[in-house]
Amino acid sequence: MSLLRNFGKVITACKKEYKKKRFGEFELMEGYSEGSLLCAGDNEDLMKYLLQKRDMAGKIQQIYIDPPFFSKATYDATVKVTNADGDEIKIKKRAYEDIWEEGMEEYLKMMGVRLMLMKDLLADTGTIWVHLDWHGVYYVKVLMDEIFGEKNFVNEIVWTYKSGGSSKSHFARKHDSILVYAKSKKYYLDIPKEKSYNRDFKPYRFKGVSEYQDEIGWYTLVNMKDVWSIDMVGRTSKERTGYATQKPEALIERILTAGSKEGDLVADFFCGSATLAAVAERTGRRWICSDNSDVAIHSAKARLENKQLSML
Ligand SMILES: C[S@@+](CC[C@H](N)C(=O)[O-])C[C@H]1O[C@@H](n2cnc3c(N)ncnc32)[C@H](O)[C@@H]1O
Repeated sequence: MSLLRNFGKVITACKKEYKKKRFGEFELMEGYSEGSLLCAGDNEDLMKYLLQKRDMAGKIQQIYIDPPFFSKATYDATVKVTNADGDEIKIKKRAYEDIWEEGMEEYLKMMGVRLMLMKDLLADTGTIWVHLDWHGVYYVKVLMDEIFGEKNFVNEIVWTYKSGGSSKSHFARKHDSILVYAKSKKYYLDIPKEKSYNRDFKPYRFKGVSEYQDEIGWYTLVNMKDVWSIDMVGRTSKERTGYATQKPEALIERILTAGSKEGDLVADFFCGSATLAAVAERTGRRWICSDNSDVAIHSAKARLENKQLSML
C-alpha cells in the first residue's frame, strides 16, 4: 500500500519542518490563573516559541490533544451573541475544517511535526494522550511508535458513549481511542480503582480482599481497565458550550487526575472550547491551551470568563 511505502518520506518531511527554527505570529493571553496561557494561533508556532523563547523543554507534565480526526468533515459552533437591539441570539459559525486535499500523508505530516515538538515539551515523568477515532488512530499509532518509541506506549484507552444515529451498513460506531505514550520509563500514572462485580450473588471472601455491596451486588475494587464508559455532553448539559466536538469534563478530569498532580503544568494544543483548561482550573493545575480557530478561541474565552459572548 502506497502510504506504508511512503511512511519514511512522511517522517523525513516532519523532521525537516520540526528543525526549522522560524515561527509565525500568534496572540498570547495570560492571566486566567497564575502560570496559565491561552494562545490564538497555530500550535506549531506556539510550541516553537515555548521551546526557543520560554525555555520550556521538558516542563509540561501532561499533554492531552483532541486534534482533527481525518473525518473529511467541517464543524460548526453555536454561539450566543448580542444583536444591535441588545437581544441575545444564537448563531451558527464555521469553527474548523477537517479536510485534507492530499489525503492521509498530509494529515500525518501535520500531526508528526507537532508530536515531535510536544515530545520536546514533555517532562521526563510526563505522558501524552492523543484522542482520535477509527479514521486515523492506527496510522497515528505507527507515527507515535516512531516518534516516542514503541517501548513507551502505555495504553489505548477506549472511550465509549451513547449518542444518536446508527447505520444499516455497519455496527453503530460509538467509541473513540485515546493513545497514551510516556516520555520515558520514569512516567507518573495514578491509576484509580473501579468496582468489579462478582459474578455470583454471595461474596467470595478472598483472604485479604475487601468486598463491598451496593444495589447491583457484591464487588471488589480493582485497578481501572482501559475501556471507559462516560456520557457525552448532553444537549441540556450545563457544561455545553455549543462547540461541535466538545468533550465531556468527566473524561478530561479522569485523564488529568491520572497523569498529573495539583500544581503541575498540563497542555492541550488543539483546545477547541477549552475543556482541558476548565478542568485544570477546577482541579488546581496550570495549563497551556491553543487553537487556530477564532470561533474556538471565543468559545474558550467565554467559558473561562464564565460569560456569554457579546461580539464575534
Ligand atoms: C476536536 S476539536 C477540539 C475540541 C475540544 N477538545 C473541546 O472539548 O472543545 C479540534 C480543534 O483543533 C483545532 N486545530 C486544528 N488545527 C490546529 C492547529 N494547527 N493549531 C491549533 N489548533 C488547531 C481546531 O480549530 C479545533 O478547534
